[in-house]
Amino acid sequence: MLLEVENLAVEVAGKRVLKDINLSIAEGETHVLLGPNGAGKSTLFLTILGFPNYKVVNGTIKFKGQDITGLTTAERVKLGIGVSFQTPPAIRGVSVGDLLKIISNQEVSDELNPRMQELAKQLKFSDEFLNRDVNLGFSGGEVKRSEILQLLAQMPDFTMFDEPDSGVDIENVELLASEIGTLLDKDKPQRSRKRSGLLITHLGYILNFVSADKAHVLIDGVISCSGNPSEILEDIRKNGFNGCVECAQCL
Ligand SMILES: Nc1ncnc2c1ncn2[C@@H]1O[C@H](COP(=O)(O)OP(=O)(O)O)[C@@H](O)[C@H]1O
Ligand SMILES: [Mg+2]
Repeated sequence: MLLEVENLAVEVAGKRVLKDINLSIAEGETHVLLGPNGAGKSTLFLTILGFPNYKVVNGTIKFKGQDITGLTTAERVKLGIGVSFQTPPAIRGVSVGDLLKIISNQEVSDELNPRMQELAKQLKFSDEFLNRDVNLGFSGGEVKRSEILQLLAQMPDFTMFDEPDSGVDIENVELLASEIGTLLDKDKPQRSRKRSGLLITHLGYILNFVSADKAHVLIDGVISCSGNPSEILEDIRKNGFNGCVECAQCL
């Protein structure tokens, strides 16, 4: 297993948001986390990333066999965890190009290396755009493309995407999905994939473009079911998340 979350309970601002989460993602697998607004999806994302306000009150998070529950976010990122935020903050005074140089261990005063320039082109970013402050005044699609560009520069072993399909138009979704595919080794045959990921979505729209091996439904801080992504999605499309809530009550 690459990621193992065991009996995880998390409090945010004194409120128990996650109750008893168990989730294992193997090397080469893509999982999807579905659930209505307020279920705790972003809380799980930020807890795995190690945000200090998300207090683990029970359970453990293991990555590559190591207990990372007490590590800082920077330490987790160094181990190979990457993220795309739903609404990342703007960073005044740091351009997209600067960030790419920092990620690829370049001096900010040097010219951006050819590989990064190539990636930027792939994500349809002009040279002018690379000089803009990160996320400052970006459109929804530009924010997501910038997040994915940073990830492609890093190529993490495990990547979490929080609502990659929200606020993005159809053209951008196709481009983003193809690059998410690259980050998750979708261009390789299933058995030789190494990179893993967790796609978080309440719309499920991204699954029309990116395949997943397993789906989980989070209802009120508990994973109420796990299984085949297309079957679970079909149930949700038919009965809504209310169907999941009713189903969870029978557990
Ligand atoms: N920083 C925070 N402060 C207070 N409450 C929070 C915070 N983060 C999350 N919550 C609460 O935790 C619950 C789950 O939120 P969230 O994880 O964002 O859900 P989702 O991503 O599934 O929509 C919500 O009731 C939300 O208000
Ligand atoms: Mg969320």
